[in-house]
This record gives sequence, C-alpha cells and structure tokens, in this order.
Amino acid sequence: MEPFSTVIRTASHEQHVEAETSTFMSDLLGGRLGVDAYARYTEQLWFVYGALEDEAGRLASDPVAGPFIRPELFRRSALERDLAHLRGAGWRAGLSALPATLAYAERVRACARSWPGGYVAHHYTRYLGDLSGGQIIRDRAEKAWGFARKGDGVRFYVFEEVGNPAAFKREYRELLDAVRADDLEKQRIVAECRKAFALNTGVFRALGEEFPLSA
Ligand code: HEM
Repeated sequence: MEPFSTVIRTASHEQHVEAETSTFMSDLLGGRLGVDAYARYTEQLWFVYGALEDEAGRLASDPVAGPFIRPELFRRSALERDLAHLRGAGWRAGLSALPATLAYAERVRACARSWPGGYVAHHYTRYLGDLSGGQIIRDRAEKAWGFARKGDGVRFYVFEEVGNPAAFKREYRELLDAVRADDLEKQRIVAECRKAFALNTGVFRALGEEFPLSA
C-alpha cells in the first residue's frame, strides 16, 4: 500500500499547481505587484496561523494531531514581526480579514475544536508548504521588495528553529505515514486537504480582485 504521505501529496498535486499558478501568486512572485499586495497577503496569513496555533496547545495531547504539534513550526510571532516591518508599529489597528480568509480560518478552528484528523490536513497543507515552496517565495520577495535576506518582512518563511528542513520534512512524512487513522478516516483527511487548498485558492482569488494589474 502507498504510504499516506504519498497519497496526500498525489491527491493535492493538481490543486497545488492551481494555487502556485493563480493569478495573484504569479503576479506577486513575478514582481508585478507592489509591496502593499504582499503586506495584505501577509495580513491574511496572520489570521490563518492564529487559527492553526491558538488551538495547538490543547491538541498537543491528542493521539491523532498531537505528534504534529511542533512549536518550532509556529509562525505567528514571525508574522507579527513582518507585519510591524511592513505596516509599522500600528499594524494591528489596520488589520482586516477578507471574507475568504475568515472562511478559511473558521474552518481551521472548527477542525481544531472537533476533528483532529481535519486539523492534520490543514497543518500539512500550510506548514509543509511553507517549508518547501515557501523558500522560493522568500527569495522572490527579498528581490522584489528589497527585504534583508531572511530578515524583517520575510521572517514568516524563515524557520529559525528547524535546523535541517529536508530532514524535518522527512520526519514529517513519517508522522503522516504513522497517523492514527483507519482507511476511511484517511480518505476524509485527504478530502480536507483538498478543501484546505481550495480555501487558499479562495484567498488568492479575493486578493487578485483587490490587486488587479492595471495593465
Ligand atoms: C508560488 C507559490 C508556490 C510555490 C513556488 C510552491 C512550490 C513548492 C515546491 C517546489 C514544493 C516541493 C517540495 C518538495 O518536493 O520537497 C512544494 C511542496 C508543497 N507545497 Fe507548495 N508552492 C507554492 C504554493 C503553495 C500553496 C499556496 C500551498 C498551500 C497552501 C502549498 C502547499 C504545499 C505542500 C503541502 C507541499 C508539500 C508536498 C509534499 O511533499 O507532501 N504550496 N511547493
């Protein structure tokens, strides 16, 4: 039987391509949008990671989600430093979630509260992505808007406490392979992962509408 880490990656591959090539992402990483669009995107991430991380402490002892709760992954304080850099000290006052972001964060919270397997799907979709493609995004952002390498503005993408990201990802896949779920539950987790990708794409679509290219 295929390891679960392969099943979940294969099942979300098509949607990964869709997210990666979304108009907003392409415009952003192609350097066609201003730093304001990048800041607005970073704000949306703050709401998503708030949902992922608010409930993490409680889930740490859960048999299904617990093994995935690794404080070295937590992104909220890095996002807050980035936002202080991007928006200034008053960044909290100007913060607002797009409706698509609220829907995403709400779904994460619902899973965190009542369905640990679903939470694992959301955890995988964000953190493994950040450890992977996130590094490409960081590189482009540094070049496009002149942030210091791995410094303020892109700290979200820098996992200072993860010494060896490749080894970490390998271990993470082992955790997925060992997830305490039967086949039906695994299918549900895969379906939730697809939903997580769709929720991300929804945020990109909304951001694309807010930042259309003038050309
Ligand atoms: C322009 C944007 C993106 C780029 C350039 C990108 C790039 C990549 C690359 C190169 C990998 C492969 C890493 C590897 O094989 O170890 C990867 C993996 C991954 N990405 Fe992305 N990605 C992007 C956006 C996203 C988004 C929006 C999500 C979901 C929110 C996402 C979720 C993932 C996940 C979950 C993996 C791990 C797949 C696995 O090995 O199981 N990515 N990404």
